[in-house]
Amino acid sequence: MNIAARMAQIAPFHVMELMARAQALEAEGRSIIHLEVGEPDFATAGPILEAARRFLAKGHVHYTAALGLPQLREAISNHYRVRYGLEISPARIIVTAGASGALLLALGVLVNPGDEWLLPDPGYPCNRNFVRLLEGRPVALAVDAASNYQPTATQLAANWTDRTKGLVVASPANPTGALLDSETMASLAGVVAQRGGTLLVDEIYHGLTYGVDAMSALAISDEVFVINSFSKYFGMTGWRLGWLVAPERHVREIEKLAQNLYIAPSTVAQHAALAAFHPETTEILESRREEFSRRRDVLLPGLRALGFKVAAVPQGAFYVYADSSALGADSDQLAGEFLSEAGVAATPGMDFGNNAPRAHMRFAYTVARDRIEDGLARMAAMLGSR
Ligand SMILES: Cc1ncc(COP(=O)(O)O)c(C=O)c1O
Repeated sequence: MNIAARMAQIAPFHVMELMARAQALEAEGRSIIHLEVGEPDFATAGPILEAARRFLAKGHVHYTAALGLPQLREAISNHYRVRYGLEISPARIIVTAGASGALLLALGVLVNPGDEWLLPDPGYPCNRNFVRLLEGRPVALAVDAASNYQPTATQLAANWTDRTKGLVVASPANPTGALLDSETMASLAGVVAQRGGTLLVDEIYHGLTYGVDAMSALAISDEVFVINSFSKYFGMTGWRLGWLVAPERHVREIEKLAQNLYIAPSTVAQHAALAAFHPETTEILESRREEFSRRRDVLLPGLRALGFKVAAVPQGAFYVYADSSALGADSDQLAGEFLSEAGVAATPGMDFGNNAPRAHMRFAYTVARDRIEDGLARMAAMLGSR
């Protein structure tokens, strides 16, 4: 049987495999503290569930337009007005199957075989695999604590070649929780525009910032592609819903791709998401954001006390990306030991690229504070008994 040659280039998403191992241990009766997965533990907010129930009660669950439900595109446009003071026409907003669907659509209309795309390393692993699927070439921009784990304009310019077509960044970023400030964002956008390339900004962790506000790249230019999702701040991972804001002239191409790839995003999820921007939902989501902030303030000092090094306090998302080199030479092995000996699941750096992955681990504060404390105590006991 044939397997396409390109599949040799596509790496598995290791964290999903680690989670499966953790779940297998749980099935054997082991207690596991899950600090590996980027998924909030909260139930879907009541008003969102209620909107889904009301819609389902009518019994008519049919396809929507490929670009999404017009009311939802309007609601997202209004979200940009209320939250950011930006006028974004609903015509530029495409509702998608998660940020994953948005990334696939955006890169699908942008990447030609052989094109180079620059991606920060460490970074969200799926992006480089999307580029590979489209037979482009992902090129890593090594980032570290010195530049707050985000690329700089100088670095971008130095790595731009004749074959480079664009840059993908995320702010706040996964795995580091690092934000791009407005100056850096503008200077990156400037370099990309000057070279005639495309800037794609993943804003999936917007809303989950602590003590600072994330700026949208849409404030800088109408030429950027912006990705967002209902998964993280809105806590709707399993509903599989996100969105893409694209320059108007690309929308028709994106529509053709969406029609062919999956016809339309989930209808029930779209009706549920109409309630995601209601004030009573915002109140629930904001109190969850405050809880995430408290969790971070338990996890971060706890990890530092164990010997992990974290240069700066992460200001967004729900991750701590920690240097584990003082605790062992290989974070993959350490993650395996934490899981099997201490019952703590955390993600080794190898998921996020080739830039010192074996010296780093990612911890997600997506579980309750007492679970985080328990996890820290378990790791301390394991490390102390060595
Ligand atoms: C940076 C980033 N982008 C995109 C995604 C995909 O999210 P979803 O498809 O659930 O919206 C994730 C998920 O963890 C992520 O961390």
